[in-house]
Amino acid sequence: MKLYRPLLRPLLFRVDAETVHGLAIRAAELASSSRWLCSSVARRHEVDSDRLAVEIGGLRFRTPLGLAAGFDKSARAVPFLAALGFGHVEVGSISAEPSAGNPKPRLFRIPLDRGIVVNYGLPNDGADKVAQRLARSHACAPVGVNIVSTNRGPSAAAEPDEAVIGDYLQSVRRLQPVADYLCLNLSCPNTREGRGFFHEPERLTQLLKELDALDGRGVVKPLFLKVAPFQSLAQLEAFLATVEPARSVTGFSINLPPGKPAGLITPASQLSAMPGAVSGPIAAAAADWTLRELYSRMDRSRYHLIGSGGVFTGEDAYRKIRLGASLVQLMTALVYEGPGIAATINRALARLLEADGVQHIAQAVGVDA
Ligand SMILES: Cc1cc2nc3c(=O)[nH]c(=O)nc-3n(C[C@H](O)[C@H](O)[C@H](O)COP(=O)(O)O)c2cc1C
Repeated sequence: MKLYRPLLRPLLFRVDAETVHGLAIRAAELASSSRWLCSSVARRHEVDSDRLAVEIGGLRFRTPLGLAAGFDKSARAVPFLAALGFGHVEVGSISAEPSAGNPKPRLFRIPLDRGIVVNYGLPNDGADKVAQRLARSHACAPVGVNIVSTNRGPSAAAEPDEAVIGDYLQSVRRLQPVADYLCLNLSCPNTREGRGFFHEPERLTQLLKELDALDGRGVVKPLFLKVAPFQSLAQLEAFLATVEPARSVTGFSINLPPGKPAGLITPASQLSAMPGAVSGPIAAAAADWTLRELYSRMDRSRYHLIGSGGVFTGEDAYRKIRLGASLVQLMTALVYEGPGIAATINRALARLLEADGVQHIAQAVGVDA
């Protein structure tokens, strides 16, 4: 995979971003159908350090580094993606009904910022089809299922609150038997009102109440809530207070902020033709602030954090762990650095822990918060 950056990437970057994304998923899907291929790729990318293993909610992750939601949106290629050295693969976001997402073009690379502008609008095959796929899957790592409410397109009328919440509940019911953990995407920048439906705390309270009561036993898998970076401490504390009564919540994951952050190198004239949120290194500052403040203020006997946003190196992953993340995720680095990135980061992370005399990764969580 040393050839990815000098040879393959320049070729791929000449082709439209969404076309390449589709081709990558198709290739990984084909590779996933061969157990032999997946196990030999897994052996080559194996994590060879027990220091990196993480346990959360009864799940064991061989490394804290996972693949973020949005790459394998409909769970087509989990076995091969897991074999690349990821400690977990989060698929989705998946909605109760299939969705075509936003009109194209809706995915753009901004190489000057090593980022991606994303305005997909949550296209996916829907909970039924994905549940069937995952039931037949054979991944060598835990699989997280990221759930969102159905995007019915830009011309659809806004739905009543009960319909949006019912959409989440239907997906949770359908997908939790085939998931190792669930993550509810509360913050998708492409949903209504810019900051998303759950900006109103009463709606989140209602969803969490209904989840706690789901089918008389609540949610039976670890459940994370994925939120946009908070803009103030008051907002962050209000969120924690809203979530506090809910029994089902295992922790929080941090999404991209909506819109274009300040400080991008890509010229504004180019960015103006690219609607959407920006991933990569520019997303790190807001995500890291939220990570540290959540870690400092949350009940750490109840909750765990998943950090993402600009993880390209072992140092980036280690920084997020030291700020409070028990798990970290990446997606943009896979596009810019290629399929060997997870193994490279895992090895670097193990070296960093060793150099600091840290016996086990759990001891590093939150030390800088
Ligand atoms: C192309 C693309 C699609 C994404 N789709 C989703 C999604 O469907 N659901 C979700 O929760 N997050 C989605 N995200 C956010 C990622 O899961 C992740 O939190 C974010 O990209 C930050 O990590 P990165 O800088 O390593 O890419 C998407 C990001 C990108 C770049």
